[in-house]
Amino acid sequence: MSAAAVRALSPLQMEVREGLSRPQKELSPKLFYDRRGSLLFEEITRLPEYYLTRAERELLATRMPEPIARLKPRTLVELGAGSADKTRLLLDAIRAASGHGGSDGTYVPIDVSAEFLREVSDRLGEERPALRVLPVVADMSESLELPQVLPRPALFALLGSTIGNFDTMDAVALLRRVRDAMCPEDRFLLGVDLRKDPRVIEAAYNDAAGVTAEFNRNVLRVLNRELGANFDPHDFVHRAFYEPHAHRIEMHLVARRALCVTIPGVGTVGFREGESIRTEISCKYDRDTVYGLFADAGLALDEWIRGDGPAYALALASPVP
Ligand code: SAH
Ligand code: AVI
Repeated sequence: MSAAAVRALSPLQMEVREGLSRPQKELSPKLFYDRRGSLLFEEITRLPEYYLTRAERELLATRMPEPIARLKPRTLVELGAGSADKTRLLLDAIRAASGHGGSDGTYVPIDVSAEFLREVSDRLGEERPALRVLPVVADMSESLELPQVLPRPALFALLGSTIGNFDTMDAVALLRRVRDAMCPEDRFLLGVDLRKDPRVIEAAYNDAAGVTAEFNRNVLRVLNRELGANFDPHDFVHRAFYEPHAHRIEMHLVARRALCVTIPGVGTVGFREGESIRTEISCKYDRDTVYGLFADAGLALDEWIRGDGPAYALALASPVP
């Protein structure tokens, strides 16, 4: 990459410059999610190969009403809320747990995809007039800022196996931020994709319809729009493979030919034919790994909830005093 003029770079320019300077070029998966990226992810959740969402929905519907009846949360704080589709199951359980007459409580969806978050929050507010919706546009990898006064107890949730998009160090840092935001009576609900036959996992990230490929290439469109870069998304091929030692999917964009891209403020980025940008990791878990992540973040694993197969699990945790 050529040296860019020395002047103040925006945080996005700095992040992109740093990521594309590495021997293995890398971009943060949070960059997928403009409105188009959020809609493409929603489409992914309906694909026959993408079992994660269906598996999580089943567990939320059948296994969460009981712990929620015990906890009786008055607030749901959801990190990376996305379409908040499965969230409705939690909100229903919260209403049912609140007692006779039912109170909808407070919902704090947090997401980096600002426009999509606004649309989803408006829709939820119209659907459920008694629900207080307090959306927060934020990058959860940086900080976790919540509205000042929230009714307690609160259920914090990070669903969809989104934790898998963070490496171990960043995942622990994120979980610690959650833990620090919790009161003793609050609980944390984490959805995780489990280790299983790699062929099943790989199929989920290489769908026949090519939606995941389009989602992957969306990051280049975001950089073109946000930074004035001149990526041609068609110059890059989608590649996703399971890395068995690290127990994770890696998603890459592979250059079809040698090429150069200009990113104003960042510089000129050269690609050899076949060189890739790693755009996402998606870690797969077992109980011990989640237990360890929680322990490092000051969280205690209270319940490990999974179905019959190796598809998916929910982990419920409380803050260690
Ligand atoms: N929870 C939903 C959506 C999962 S997709 C589900 O289970 O289906 C991941 C979501 O996290 C997207 O909505 C994306 O915009 C959001 N996201 C990704 N990185 C983020 C970050 N760093 N900070 C906040 N939100 C983020
Ligand atoms: C949001 N996240 C958990 C998804 C995943 O499975 O890692 C994003 C995704 N990437 C490709 N398909 C879906």
